[in-house]
Amino acid sequence: MNKNTLRETPLLYPELFKSLESARWNMAKDVPWEIFDSSLLTEEQALTIKFNAITEWAALPATEMFMRDFRHDSDFAAFMSVWFYEEQKHALVLMEYLRRFRPELVPTEEELHAVRFEFDPAPPLETLMLHFCGEVRLTQWYRRAAEWHTEPVIKHIYALLSRDEARHGGAYLKFMRRAIERDGPAAQKAFSKIGVLMASSGRSGKPLHPTNLHVNQALFPKDTVQSRLPDPEWLEHWLDEQILFDRECENRVIGGILRNLSSLFDRKLENVTDLNRYRKQLAAEAA
Ligand SMILES: [Fe+2]
Ligand SMILES: [Fe+2]
Repeated sequence: MNKNTLRETPLLYPELFKSLESARWNMAKDVPWEIFDSSLLTEEQALTIKFNAITEWAALPATEMFMRDFRHDSDFAAFMSVWFYEEQKHALVLMEYLRRFRPELVPTEEELHAVRFEFDPAPPLETLMLHFCGEVRLTQWYRRAAEWHTEPVIKHIYALLSRDEARHGGAYLKFMRRAIERDGPAAQKAFSKIGVLMASSGRSGKPLHPTNLHVNQALFPKDTVQSRLPDPEWLEHWLDEQILFDRECENRVIGGILRNLSSLFDRKLENVTDLNRYRKQLAAEAA
């Protein structure tokens, strides 16, 4: 990293703090708890809220991983304080919903603690891109969840979460833009490599989200967040049988990733093939 660049670039944390604070919703005042309608919530729907709550809790081991692997980047580590807070709030608002309306489904401390495990160290630029894609994907998953649910309070909560995840994606993108300014080709290579992987999903394969990837060799195969949930199969069931995350939804995820990478790389990327071609071009230039 160029020392001059480091000195001349303003921190991203202060601006991100300000913009995320101004968009922040209040758990007591901005969730319309009083309009809850018990007749519009099925047991099947309620159970998915529990699994989403535990999955959100996995921001805890993710933050521990980020703080370790981004020790060189204090600006990003400072931003983590906001991200971690907002993700834990996602777990909390879902748990609060269950506490009020389906108390028997509130995750136990043991169930929450089960998703706290060590992630193997990974290249920071790839991790950044992976989590950016994760936020883009989760934005769309929650958008569909808001449509699928019938009970108005939980519909409202998922819409709030979806918008938060979109803002998180935007924040990660700012750090990616800065990484390109600082690290140039190394950042472009890492982002296009992970971009090809994350946009080549299709619903034939397994859902491509950080919580569904193997992150600790020694614990394999119980080294994904999803594998440590009370029902490791729930995510695919939720996507395929419940919120019906189909090809059209998947295309919104891929479109979001490609649109942002187009702007980041300053070139038009219409599809994964374009992105893969660019990735190969970068590799050839490096060689
Ligand atoms: Fe979240
Ligand atoms: Fe998020």
